[in-house]
Amino acid sequence: MAAGKGTRMKSALPKVLHRLAGASLLQHVLNTAQQLGAERIVIVTGHGAEAVEASVGAPGLRFVRQVPQLGTGHAMQQAAPALHDEGTTLILNGDVPLIEAATARALLAAAGDASLALLTLTLADASGYGRVLRGDAGQVLGIVEHKDATPAQRAIGEVYSGIMAAPTAHLKRWLAALRNDNAQGEYYLTDIVAMAVAEGMPVVTAHPRNEAEVLGVNSPQQLADLERRYQRARADALMEAGVRLADPARLDLRGELACGSDVEIDINCIFEGRVSLADDVRVGAHCVIRNATIGERAVIHPYTHIDGDALGVSVGAGSLVGPYARLRPGSVLGEGVHIGNFVEVKNSTLARGAKANHLAYLGDASVGERVNFGAGSITANYDGVNKHRTVIGADAQIGSNSVLVAPVTIGEGATIGGGSTIAKDAPAGQLTFTRAQQLTLPRWKRPTKKL
Ligand code: UD1
Ligand code: MG
Repeated sequence: MAAGKGTRMKSALPKVLHRLAGASLLQHVLNTAQQLGAERIVIVTGHGAEAVEASVGAPGLRFVRQVPQLGTGHAMQQAAPALHDEGTTLILNGDVPLIEAATARALLAAAGDASLALLTLTLADASGYGRVLRGDAGQVLGIVEHKDATPAQRAIGEVYSGIMAAPTAHLKRWLAALRNDNAQGEYYLTDIVAMAVAEGMPVVTAHPRNEAEVLGVNSPQQLADLERRYQRARADALMEAGVRLADPARLDLRGELACGSDVEIDINCIFEGRVSLADDVRVGAHCVIRNATIGERAVIHPYTHIDGDALGVSVGAGSLVGPYARLRPGSVLGEGVHIGNFVEVKNSTLARGAKANHLAYLGDASVGERVNFGAGSITANYDGVNKHRTVIGADAQIGSNSVLVAPVTIGEGATIGGGSTIAKDAPAGQLTFTRAQQLTLPRWKRPTKKL
């Protein structure tokens, strides 16, 4: 169910499209549903339906629209025609993102083919939630929504998580009989529980392993709270695998991070997309790394931004990057490459031992082994219309403050004098420079202030 507006988010963005750990709330729920091998996944959309539907894609996904949105029971009424009569339906909430596949499987197993199964838990602060009503023998009698509950019912700590599993044929029958005579004038899905009880159908409960699995997002505060819980769990998993985090509270994973042994990560690093850190990699404070592969023993110094985007970035074993470096898509650094402060690399290959240590730009370049690319030098790769390549042979030295105007080739072992603008190929093994001669004017006087 993903049709609700999410009024308390106070946002133009539909609630289920708000992001947790880099993915929409709905995408998290969908990932779990896919792990269960569902025969069909039906998503109920309504508020912002077009944006919500465009945001997710998966084979076999179906959307049904709920307009207007008259409650969770009404949402399921719209979904009912799209569900197979045989089998079991698992109902998930688009705003409850951290539900785990194992918990959902346990709930489905509890439902079997002849029971209604509710995922419930006991909360210290149950306010806002539907409460689970039980009889003297502990049997479930129904669910009462917070707004409809008496003070005595509000004192109940066991809440309905919003997640249930039911035999589909029964579910359809109950949905058809729902009414909206309640405090909110809505069709409550939760009313089917009392219907099942009245029919003598077993109603069973299952419970999540941890509370965060069933916490819903209704406000920016709750979103931020869930984000921190999620991040802490991921940080704990990394540390269990031996990764040394300077502070597990100051790490953000927005994708998949694979780590070798003896990896160290300093504070406030963000990893996005797919990142792998090989054995003995060290990542300094305040780095943002996305879609990149970092080789063993490489050191990423503080404040480095690596963004592989679609092309990826790869950093060779033993390389040193940063502080304050920027590696953009298609940067491929060989072994022992040094990229220093305020150096930007884009769509370029640097072979083993090449260095660009200060204030430089390498775009669309192939840089040979052991090349030293001097401070303040750049490749002028863009002529205003097209991008062109620069090729620098092994062992070349590019003097400081040079402009290599692409397309251009610098031969192996060539030396480029500092301050040159190189627009034609430079031969191997020789000194090439374009530099105005240094002049000194002997009779020149510095102007003085007129009184
Ligand atoms: C619901 C439950 C409540 C439970 C709580 C757990 C009902 C009546 N109440 O309340 O017992 O404790 O979840 O979080 O079910 N939605 C639609 N269409 C609608 C209304 C909602 O698709 O017309 C979707 C929302 O997008 C959301 C989900 O259903 O994903 C839950 O809706 P919400 O309004 O948050 O229900 P609660 O009031 O939290
Ligand atoms: Mg809710």
